[in-house]
Amino acid sequence: MIRVCSHPILRHALSVLRDRKTSMENFRKAIRRASWALGLEALRGLETRPRRIRTPLRPLSAPFLQSPPPCFVAVLRAGLAFLDGMLDLVPDASVGHIGLYRDEKSLVPVRYYVNLPAPLKGAPVFLLDPMLATGGSMAQAAAILKSRGAGKISAVSLIASRQGLRRFHRQHPGIAVYVAAVDPYLNARGFIIPGLGDAGDRFFGT
Ligand code: PRP
Repeated sequence: MIRVCSHPILRHALSVLRDRKTSMENFRKAIRRASWALGLEALRGLETRPRRIRTPLRPLSAPFLQSPPPCFVAVLRAGLAFLDGMLDLVPDASVGHIGLYRDEKSLVPVRYYVNLPAPLKGAPVFLLDPMLATGGSMAQAAAILKSRGAGKISAVSLIASRQGLRRFHRQHPGIAVYVAAVDPYLNARGFIIPGLGDAGDRFFGT
């Protein structure tokens, strides 16, 4: 399932992110707002369970997020740009990291780091990577999660290319992908067009 989120706050944030004139500071602020909007949508399926509390005035049965809390897995580096915003929404989420970089020539993702909370089974897992270009990185990250026992996985991205989404869906048909936009194509270097450039470089100032 592909879910293109169209909240006006998200659409505005995306335009700020796409603009080459946006400073690093404003890029960071906009991507945080975008992660809230995308996160709220992606987290919509989380279950709640009633618990007895007392307001200052009377007892109440109130809904709280069910345990175990979700797990957010950032695909390094750019996935880190989504992490703080997602943790604003669920501060007790567990966090994992998967380090992948794309070989510049072949565009094949190369794995250099994996650190995931154990056990993954039982917790809904949200894979975070703002850019889904060829789809190779997200697909490899999802395969790593499955090999470590993750059950319900969702992917959260900002911009996906049409062909990357097709590829990801072929490899992982059961994983829902939440995005702010689907862009039409990739250039010869594997960059999403029109896209926003290299999200990691613009977020970290490299
Ligand atoms: C970029 C981006 C994604 C990946 C997308 O990362 O942040 O992780 O490429 O490309 P794909 O869908 O074709 O695999 P990059 O490899 O440049 O590493 P970085 O995040 O460390 O900059």
